[in-house]
Amino acid sequence: MASLTIRKLDDAVKTYLRLRSAKNHRSVEEEVRVILRELIEGREEPLTPFSAPPTPSATATPQRIGALPEASVTLIIGGGIAAYKSLDLIRRLKERRIEVRCVLTKAAQQFVTPLAVSALSHERVYTDLFDPQSEFDAGHIRLARECDLIVVAPATADLMAKMANGHADDLASAILLATNRKILLAPAMNPLMWNNAATRRNVTQLQRDGVVLIGPNSGEMAEAGEAGVGRMSEAIEIATAAERLLRPPMPKPLAGKRVLITAGPTHEPIDPVRYIANRSSGKQGFAIAAAAQAAGAEVILVSGPVDLGDPAGVTVKHVESARQMLEQVQAALPADIAIFAAAVADWRVANEGEQKLKKTAGSMPPLQLVENPDILATISRLADKRPPLVIGFAAETEHLIDNAKTKLARKGCDWIVANDVSPATGVMGGDRNTVHLISRKDGEIAVDSWPVMTKEQVAIELVAHIAKSATGKSLEPAS
Ligand SMILES: Cc1cc2nc3c(=O)[nH]c(=O)nc-3n(C[C@H](O)[C@H](O)[C@H](O)COP(=O)(O)O)c2cc1C
Repeated sequence: MASLTIRKLDDAVKTYLRLRSAKNHRSVEEEVRVILRELIEGREEPLTPFSAPPTPSATATPQRIGALPEASVTLIIGGGIAAYKSLDLIRRLKERRIEVRCVLTKAAQQFVTPLAVSALSHERVYTDLFDPQSEFDAGHIRLARECDLIVVAPATADLMAKMANGHADDLASAILLATNRKILLAPAMNPLMWNNAATRRNVTQLQRDGVVLIGPNSGEMAEAGEAGVGRMSEAIEIATAAERLLRPPMPKPLAGKRVLITAGPTHEPIDPVRYIANRSSGKQGFAIAAAAQAAGAEVILVSGPVDLGDPAGVTVKHVESARQMLEQVQAALPADIAIFAAAVADWRVANEGEQKLKKTAGSMPPLQLVENPDILATISRLADKRPPLVIGFAAETEHLIDNAKTKLARKGCDWIVANDVSPATGVMGGDRNTVHLISRKDGEIAVDSWPVMTKEQVAIELVAHIAKSATGKSLEPAS
């Protein structure tokens, strides 16, 4: 099959793949494989076609996170005394939501039975290269490729020798030679076998070939009175190493950066029991706070009244009014990046009642409105403590882009995230958002329109842009 060059895909597809792979902790290449596999097996909803360049009405494919096992392993069990530990390893992998298909060498069957392995893995077990049942469609090639990782535990001296020399005379070695997946070996053998010059040469060769080893550990051997390096790593150590290869930790491009975010509405009191408010839910600002925290930033979130739990690892300052929000924002400075996603009320009541206003027949209370402080403009114009990157949000119901461009110039911020909040969009209080990132580029104003995304996706994408701009680093795990 011809290889796929991710670079050559159009921007909307790349954005979708980047978001989906980041969310699933996979490389983009791995994510493409998962999508294709799901499509072939009829498990995935059809992808919405993307147009290039993306238009505000383009729809991103809904994610199905958590619906399927997130990763799969082909586990090859070699013929060593430590094979019994592979039974525990199956359990440890499965509890991490890793699907396991097992292959037993002929020697391994002397130590554990295919029945026990099959009962634990809930899958058929493979033992024979020339099995007509699985080889009618080249089963060893499928076992080699239809997984995200191959784990060999225990990796015997014999199996490692075969691998290092490219042998393929049984099912296990044929799979190991035919695979294009990462391989994790958990060697287990007598210390003299491990230190033998031939094994040393084979280990060096395998490491040069890109094979990853875990262990062996040092300790007592099964053989009475023998000790040294050669004990297989514990099942939990192997499972952790496998998970690390399958789901590499997310990079932290914003480590060392302090990010200040505002979110939610403000409540402007009329009297002790009444207030002026707006329909902002705070979901977008909270999602940005969580994404920035996941990217390694120290995050201070100043939030108006919302029905959301505080994001983990984020310092949250709860406020009611615009003036309180400004106070907390100023107290949180200095910051490297400030994102003003809150829907701050433009006006407040000048003559706020000290007591509850009484309803008197035929007359209305004379409410006078005065302008609230403009938090975005105030911070954008600071002489000394202005954060190097200030981002505002523009919620508009008409002339979205034009109004946002004007706002960028008027407020003096660096970027504006513009979104259409007309009732028909369902953005206010909803889970999805369609945004346009408006920034200055080489003296010109650039507009980058993103497809419809969940607010979490918008947050991840915005944080990716911020990381690129502030640090030049990417949010994607290295593939
Ligand atoms: C009781 C017993 C225990 C063994 N334990 C190990 C071991 O821990 N590591 C190893 O490399 N070989 C061990 N061997 C030797 C392997 O079973 C032998 O090399 C076999 O050919 C390996 O086949 P395989 O690599 O296809 O699984 C042991 C043999 C016996 C009889």
